[in-house]
Amino acid sequence: MTGLTILGIESSCDDSAAAVVRRTETGPRVLSSVVRGQTALHAEFGGVVPEIAARAHAEVLDHCVEAALEEAGLGMDDLDGIAVTAGPGLIGGVLSGVMLAKGLSAATGLPLIGVNHLAGHALTPRLTDELEFPYLMLLVSGGHCQFLVVEGEDSFRRLGGTIDDAPGEAFDKTARLLGLPQPGGPAVEAEAREGDAERIRLPRPLLDRPGCDMSFSGLKTALLRARDAEMAQAGGLTRATRADLAASFQQAVVDILAEKTRRALDLYLDLAPVRPAFAVAGGVAANGPIRAALQALCAKRGVAFSAPPLSLCTDNAAMIAHAGLARLAAGEADGLELSARPRWPL
Ligand code: KG4
Ligand code: ZN
Repeated sequence: MTGLTILGIESSCDDSAAAVVRRTETGPRVLSSVVRGQTALHAEFGGVVPEIAARAHAEVLDHCVEAALEEAGLGMDDLDGIAVTAGPGLIGGVLSGVMLAKGLSAATGLPLIGVNHLAGHALTPRLTDELEFPYLMLLVSGGHCQFLVVEGEDSFRRLGGTIDDAPGEAFDKTARLLGLPQPGGPAVEAEAREGDAERIRLPRPLLDRPGCDMSFSGLKTALLRARDAEMAQAGGLTRATRADLAASFQQAVVDILAEKTRRALDLYLDLAPVRPAFAVAGGVAANGPIRAALQALCAKRGVAFSAPPLSLCTDNAAMIAHAGLARLAAGEADGLELSARPRWPL
């Protein structure tokens, strides 16, 4: 078997995942990727409950590994290393993954590599596209929102990010306030298509401040107030008002992300990259109007636009395996003293 083959394990939030990725001269290839979500377990609590998440990871991670190996048609003997998310994330979950990876490493003698979850996301576009360093990345999901200049496989520069909620979280809360189903993003996007984004004006927090930092929690509060005012006037939430509120909210997020991306592109282009490229990843990147706005900005600035498929953008273990490959190829590894880190800035 040619190339390097690595098992990845991810358990930092509410997805238990395992994957096998192989790197050959032609580039990396995902041989399998298994993700078991926990949405149903947390649904009644209105958010991820760390204790429940940790227990669920401990129960299913080994099955995920088994399934990933089977899907790849490989056994442990065919592997060259094991990569595991060592943070940042909910510590109980991260520990479940790290302990499993340590056990597998101790039993097989395979090198163990601790991966930063955010580095996994940031390097994902290179799984599918031939992006050269440095590229600009916007990671935008239910848990993350930040601009990174990806300078190398282990070199990232953060230009800014949210100072409170992530946009996906705001989409989910908006859906709840409007009585729409979860996950909120797709539901709000569909509702917004029927609405008028101009009738109800919502704020664009931090838009007039310099830099690339963003804020979404004020937007959510403004939406709540606007909803209550409309309801008081009409005696309830009408279909038309719900659509208008969804459209206004979505337009505010589009405007914030577009303006801050424009500024991040300025900073990035100052670095004079030879083949300038911008990648967007994370669940919120699935949003049509957001994607269109970012793509249009890049086209205007002569910057290549890349958006990995959603299955690789949302939490998964293929990105962890992929991020671990570089260190494995360099002959680096962590020992059994690898520790789980709840916080781990890039
Ligand atoms: O990346 P992801 O699967 O999980 C993490 O947050 O780690 O992102 C999920 C988030 C959810 O908040 C969901 O509502 C949002 O991405 N999302 C969307 C859309 N599809 C998913 N937000 C806006 N528009 C969408 N079409
Ligand atoms: Zn993530």
